Amino acid sequence: MTRKIIIDTDPGQDDALAILLAFASPELDVLGITAVAGNVPLALTELNARKICELAGRADSKVFAGADRPLMRLLVTAEHVHGKTGLDGPDLPEPSMPLQKQHAVDFIIETLRREEAGSVTLCALGPLTNIAQVLIRAPELVPRIREIVLMGGGFFEGGNITPTAEFNIYVDPHAAQLVMQSGAPVTILPLDVTHKVLTTARRLDRFRAMGTKSGDASVALLEFFERFDEEKYGSDGGPLHDPNVIAYLLRPELYGGRLCNVTIETSNELTLGMTVADWWGVTHRPKNAFYIRDVDDEAFFDLLIERIGRLP
Ligand code: BDR
Ligand code: CA
Repeated sequence: MTRKIIIDTDPGQDDALAILLAFASPELDVLGITAVAGNVPLALTELNARKICELAGRADSKVFAGADRPLMRLLVTAEHVHGKTGLDGPDLPEPSMPLQKQHAVDFIIETLRREEAGSVTLCALGPLTNIAQVLIRAPELVPRIREIVLMGGGFFEGGNITPTAEFNIYVDPHAAQLVMQSGAPVTILPLDVTHKVLTTARRLDRFRAMGTKSGDASVALLEFFERFDEEKYGSDGGPLHDPNVIAYLLRPELYGGRLCNVTIETSNELTLGMTVADWWGVTHRPKNAFYIRDVDDEAFFDLLIERIGRLP
């Protein structure tokens, strides 16, 4: 049976790879892609989402625009990482598929109501504003959510936008805290795991060898994306974050983590957006999230490359 997913995203080169992986995987049924403001403003993230659908040969899929700013704070963007368009690197054509008229939050609510209870997984690759708005407007839908699997946070590795905060959580910490407190099953793929997944030169060569449009675009996306982190960390390749969400759905046995309490700092300025993971269980706070720290990175790239190699 295929697993029904909604991808909530702010593309973003690594978001793009995650979307390609999902479309290339017959185990997943992508019901819709919901765009949120994050790496770049909403007008660009929804446009980029449509470009990626068309790259994957999936102009028949549905892209919805959602929140254009966080719940309570001003939008912080990351053009210094992703470039002015959010998707710098490849030269992708303007999409011809339309943006859906329905608001992303309405789409998610309607889908959770329509589909069988416990059958829809929400995959969050950006700030959690859209998901939080669903929880605020329709809290009765929480038991109908199969799982929220998100890329965000970092505890042992520290932060990437401030010393203590990861970008997706920092942009909308209030939304992230609502998700943590929602009671829905939450799985977190933080920097602690994504920093083990590096886009090395040898791995990029394997994308290049595909000789397809999607393979070439992946190389251009990743070469642009990794330059910032390679300089920062001095590594061969940069961390590849968002595709871990999709890979986790496809092959959970590649990952290791534990159920623990995760709480988001929403008030202290110095540590705003910090994901405080009680890995050692030193508090009695409820265990609300499956927090992942380990991955078989070779097997992750084997999966990613084999799947993207199936696309046009
Ligand atoms: C996360 O922030 C964004 O810049 C990436 O797309 C990823 O979702 C990594 O911190
Ligand atoms: Ca993202």
